[in-house]
Amino acid sequence: RGAERVAADLAGRHVVVSAGGTREPLDPVRFLGNRSSGKQGYALARTAVARGARVTLVAANTELPDPAGADVVRVTTAHQMREAVLKAAADADAVVMAAAVADFRPAHYAEGKIKKKDGEEPAPLELVRNPDILAELSADRPHPGQVVAGFAAETDDVLANGRAKLARKECDLLVVNEVGERKAFGSEENEAVILGADGEETPVPYGPKEALADVVWDRVARRL
Ligand code: CTP
Ligand code: CA
Repeated sequence: RGAERVAADLAGRHVVVSAGGTREPLDPVRFLGNRSSGKQGYALARTAVARGARVTLVAANTELPDPAGADVVRVTTAHQMREAVLKAAADADAVVMAAAVADFRPAHYAEGKIKKKDGEEPAPLELVRNPDILAELSADRPHPGQVVAGFAAETDDVLANGRAKLARKECDLLVVNEVGERKAFGSEENEAVILGADGEETPVPYGPKEALADVVWDRVARRL
């Protein structure tokens, strides 16, 4: 890449990126959460700004500096993320869901702190499904040319799981990475394969999250 990147191939485009991990409250002091740092989503936002895009970053529970030049919308729960992403997506050319969205939330929120009782085992925690934002974005596009991309952290047969997920979600691109010690969660580096609904598969070698972000935008830009 390098010099060609100043070509600002996303100029005049509005892109939406989600980042971080949602938290689903259980009581005033507790939540169900996950280990997403938000670094990959922030790298996507920074690189999109550098390529000339107007960027809306929907950030869930991150502790990272705001990317210069991006509009940052802060959310906590999956429901709040859905609202913010759908709103921003209405006039977007592309949406990239890099956030780790909680699949389930506690069925009941306790207004007061849940207390333990002497000699009693805890009641089982009842969970309900959260909406699938990526599937909804893919199914209800505001215009047919909108590009929708997701991320998937997988174990076991990473590629087979990724291909099945891409088909199920009906998005255009799915960035699949294997979860491991140094990779993905919290680290500065990532390694992935970008799967396209058109069957194209782009391996991205282990390297900075910015480098992966740039390849994602290359793939998005070609579809715009
Ligand atoms: N995603 C979403 N809404 C959800 C769950 C996931 O928008 N409720 C998005 C994520 O942001 C990500 C993609 O879907 O871009 C894949 O997330 P993942 O958790 O891998 O997919 P799931 O369908 O939840 O499958 P799994 O059962 O493997 O968790
Ligand atoms: Ca999930």
